[in-house]
Amino acid sequence: MAADSRAKAATLDLRRRLLSSSCRLFFPEDPVKIIRSQGQYLYDEQGREFLDCISNVAHVGHCHPIVVQAAHKQNLVLNTNSRYLHDNIVDYAQRLSETLPKELSVFYFLNSGSEANDLALRLARQCTGHQDVVVLDHAYHGHLSSLIDISPYKFRDLDGQKEWVHVAPLPDTYRGLYREDHPNPAEAYASEVKHVINIAQEKGRKMAAFFAESLPSVGGQIIPPSGYFSQVAEHIRRAGGLFVADEIQVGFGRVGKHFWAFQLEGENFVPDIVTMGKSIGNGHPVACVATTQAVSRTFEATGVEYFNTFGGNPVSCAVGLAVLDVLEKEQLQAQATNVGSFLMKHLSQQKAKHPIIGDVRGIGLFIGVDLIKDETLRTPATEEAEYLVSRLKENYILLSTDGPGKNVLKFKPPMCFSLDNAQHVIAKLDDILTDMEEKVRSCKTLRIQPNSVKHPPGSTGPGCRSAAGSRPSI
Ligand SMILES: Cc1ncc(COP(=O)(O)O)c(C=O)c1O
Repeated sequence: MAADSRAKAATLDLRRRLLSSSCRLFFPEDPVKIIRSQGQYLYDEQGREFLDCISNVAHVGHCHPIVVQAAHKQNLVLNTNSRYLHDNIVDYAQRLSETLPKELSVFYFLNSGSEANDLALRLARQCTGHQDVVVLDHAYHGHLSSLIDISPYKFRDLDGQKEWVHVAPLPDTYRGLYREDHPNPAEAYASEVKHVINIAQEKGRKMAAFFAESLPSVGGQIIPPSGYFSQVAEHIRRAGGLFVADEIQVGFGRVGKHFWAFQLEGENFVPDIVTMGKSIGNGHPVACVATTQAVSRTFEATGVEYFNTFGGNPVSCAVGLAVLDVLEKEQLQAQATNVGSFLMKHLSQQKAKHPIIGDVRGIGLFIGVDLIKDETLRTPATEEAEYLVSRLKENYILLSTDGPGKNVLKFKPPMCFSLDNAQHVIAKLDDILTDMEEKVRSCKTLRIQPNSVKHPPGSTGPGCRSAAGSRPSI
């Protein structure tokens, strides 16, 4: 039986029986069955077209023909491993090196973002001879045991914080310790990292690395204040550790202005290690670690081979090269700037119109819309965000939420996302928010039908619950 001819309910039933429920579905109450995709669109089993606002993996567009062809062409000829000489791997390393500061000149190829961060951890530990890591609160760096340990987003619900892990506050100027009214939030947040390092050192701990996403996404689409990472790099290096930039969600031109998000810190800012994944292969499992000669040499000095069966194989490298070709040929970095600026401008207009929008932040096609229940406390509008995402899905727009309060709408669409797409999403968002406000005013239930978000027992719906406070939340 062709996979796409099975009824959706039967697929769901099989999945429930055969897969772990730890592997979650989007919209678990009414999952979407996707059987085809192109560009920024996904199609379900009934041919309905969904606009994808969240897949930063399909970086240059789902099933991009140039990328698909590159994989197919190479698959027809050869796919083996990096122990044989082949031009694809060296061409790819060369092309990547052209996008990076010259110091980052050694490349390791792998299959997933988690593998890349795990190797970054090994490199940092080998290079420094230290074990400890500083991470940002709410961060996620991958699903391997080593990375769950440095992911507060996960370990808080599991075994908790290990003694070698130190957590610094998220540099969130909207709802963090130091906000937009602080005279120097970059310095204040960097001092928090220094403080965390000092406390650890007083206990005899030694720093191997500071790990952070160049723009913390899981933490709620955060834009750290300019100058923060440069100061953090000074603090961690003074403590003998390395600076690791996780570009797995935000690299490859997503920020528009620059190819890498860490470059927002300025030309002189160079991490010791950069990790890449997700978008690098447009859906094909590819990942990469870039580092300096000095870091790599200490790893090599162990005399132990680094071998990764699939990492850097000719097909993966052909795919990676094709992604870079498409980015250039279709000028997608410039597109990210144009469409991103348009989205920022129009979402900011929505903020002026709808009080539920507390903050609109972003750069390029990395944008967060922070939904609040009240302006003073900026209480996360969690249920409202969930409701809004469900309503958008009913309108064939796929968006989701991030952040500790699950209240930040995240935009990180394929880079081919167009001005028309942006206009369409904003119009729908406006309609739904207006409708939500109307429902709150008349205190009608914000329940959508059928199979949609269920509200906690006893509540009449998110809008009505919060309307019981001093002012309606939306
Ligand atoms: C910032 C970040 N780092 C690392 C990873 C892990 O990547 P992967 O799922 O490819 O192992 C993810 C995945 O969501 C991520 O968002």
